Amino acid sequence: MNKKEKKQKKESSGIITRIIKIKGKSDLGKILPAADALKKGKLVSFPTETVYGLGADALNREAVKNIFIAKGRPSDNPFIIHVGSKKDVYVLAKNIPEIAEKLMDRFWPGPLTLVLNKSEIVPFETTGGRKTVAVRMPDNYIALELIRKAGVPVAAPSANTSSRPSATSAKHVIDDLNGKVDFVIDGGDSDIGLESTVLDLTSKVPLILRPGKITSEDIKKVLGKVDTYKKVDGKSVEAKAPGMKYKHYSPDAKIIIVEGPAEEVEKKVSELSMMYFRNGKKVKILSTSEKGGKEYYFMGSSERDFAKNMFNAFRELDKEKVDIILAGSISEEGLGTAIMNRMKKAAYKVIKV
Ligand code: TXA
Ligand code: MG
Repeated sequence: MNKKEKKQKKESSGIITRIIKIKGKSDLGKILPAADALKKGKLVSFPTETVYGLGADALNREAVKNIFIAKGRPSDNPFIIHVGSKKDVYVLAKNIPEIAEKLMDRFWPGPLTLVLNKSEIVPFETTGGRKTVAVRMPDNYIALELIRKAGVPVAAPSANTSSRPSATSAKHVIDDLNGKVDFVIDGGDSDIGLESTVLDLTSKVPLILRPGKITSEDIKKVLGKVDTYKKVDGKSVEAKAPGMKYKHYSPDAKIIIVEGPAEEVEKKVSELSMMYFRNGKKVKILSTSEKGGKEYYFMGSSERDFAKNMFNAFRELDKEKVDIILAGSISEEGLGTAIMNRMKKAAYKVIKV
């Protein structure tokens, strides 16, 4: 073991995490050892366009069990299976409705996960005991090459420790999972920064279980009708994706979201900021404009930037030992729906003004 490897071997599990850096298509040959490891039942973290995944062979029960162990995740929470081509879905799922094909044609590769009836070959370990299976084809050349070279479908949750913010860079993955996975493929920062939209096609009307970059409006354009996990036929319902019921994405700092008309929100945020500051708390305000004092944390000026930077911001602010994160709400339309879904999950409190 050389010095670098010794440094990387932090945990007592005995796994040495190897990091493969990919800067462009010409580097793709470097991922072969990771593809081989996946094939042999090992764990490999890889970039996708949404967030980093913690992958294992989806058809190998033992490998899948090791994901739960590495993440510290409850074993009734199912994984998304990542495929390298649309035709792989026909092996993993059965009774696939025509609308699934329409959606795959329109949005794949891309950040849309489809929940379908599982075929017999998918072990219950992968689906958390369910008869349904979640599948998606990621829009990232490294992920696709890895899956194709491994030659197996890849079960992968987000590559964070359970209840930590999702990982959007290889550094986040290493912070959480060093010594617990065999390879981390570093492909730079995630482009979208929020996990995929999860759409259940096994219910009467297609149902969005988790909002993401592909919005209900996008899906409606293809299917005509879609419900969201909050409302079915106009009525509120409990979350159905098992993952949605767990505490999620939470930084150590307490996030307080202020909702209401822009002016009122601004007033309340600065009032709260002063109050907490006077009480000796370290406060940061998430901001979408570059100007402002050192109490502001700049998230970028567009919704896209906000989404891309959000999980990194939570991790950074934890490192800075911030006590309170204040944020004005974003309008819950388009990408804003997914941003607010994650923010509210992470929040300590939502204040309406
Ligand atoms: O963008 C993403 O989706 C990332 C990247 C790595 O692809 N993956 C991800 O996986 O976010 P994970 O495990 O953190 O979240 C998957 C979500 C969970 O809320 C889970 O409960 C839900 O999808 N899910 C998976 N299989 C399901 C099923 N059969 N029925 C209902 N919900 C399911
Ligand atoms: Mg996750």
